[in-house]
Amino acid sequence: MPTIRVVAPAKINLALHVTGKRADGYHLLDSHVVFARDAHDTLEVCPAQDMELIVDGPFADGVPTDARNLCWRAAEAFGAPVSIRLTKALPHAAGIGGGSADAAAVLRAMEALFERRFTGDAALLGADVPVCLLSRSARMSGIGEIVAPVKSAEFHAVLVNPGVDVPTPNVFRALASRQNAPLADLPDDGVDLAWLKAQRNDLQAPAMACAPVIATCLDALKDAELARMSGSGATCFGLYSDGPAASAAAERLRTRHPNWWVTASVLR
Ligand code: C5P
Repeated sequence: MPTIRVVAPAKINLALHVTGKRADGYHLLDSHVVFARDAHDTLEVCPAQDMELIVDGPFADGVPTDARNLCWRAAEAFGAPVSIRLTKALPHAAGIGGGSADAAAVLRAMEALFERRFTGDAALLGADVPVCLLSRSARMSGIGEIVAPVKSAEFHAVLVNPGVDVPTPNVFRALASRQNAPLADLPDDGVDLAWLKAQRNDLQAPAMACAPVIATCLDALKDAELARMSGSGATCFGLYSDGPAASAAAERLRTRHPNWWVTASVLR
């Protein structure tokens, strides 16, 4: 059987409201999620005698190559051994769903390879896996298991990560209020900048308390039309009027902060 190459685009929460907490400790979310056209990991997947995972690329360091990796667990959930080469171009523990996007990409690749649908529960792998399986603009709710496609404008963005790992459970623990208003009603013509500006990321303040450099990132993006954190951080995004404005902002940020991960991308 052939090797299948798939991409795992970065997931960006353009808005993320925390609306409650379940008895099992998981939080109820209401989030507008989009995906980066130009920032992704890459995976090559082929059938194998035994499970195998090779990780390379600029962010390979520290990525497990066994069952601790969500890719591995996704293949096991699909139910067939495969050999996976994962090229990590996205920072991890970064609020852009890297591990979840990789797991969803493995499931997509295996569906094509084995010509059958994945019938398991993607949410059991991780709260962001269902939306990453859809991999297009969506409203995500529940603890992440409820996903509905949503019309959204395409945004020209700069993504910035200062290189600090922010563990998601720590950020949720530092949250002051767990009962916040859900997203406002979606505009009839699809999500636009004005609507986004009126929403929030409820995890931004607690993440900034865990990692103050996030405030520095947001400050560095203050020339953007909207600057906000994604997920539980630390990656922040700035939205710009068009592609050239985003590219120019990315160039300026790379010069000023050579140790940060900075990339311009269309979000859709
Ligand atoms: O499901 P995932 O592995 O991405 O979640 C990581 C951690 O984030 C969970 O162990 C939990 O502490 C927290 N979390 C949460 N509510 C969610 C999603 C994640 O409290 N809806």
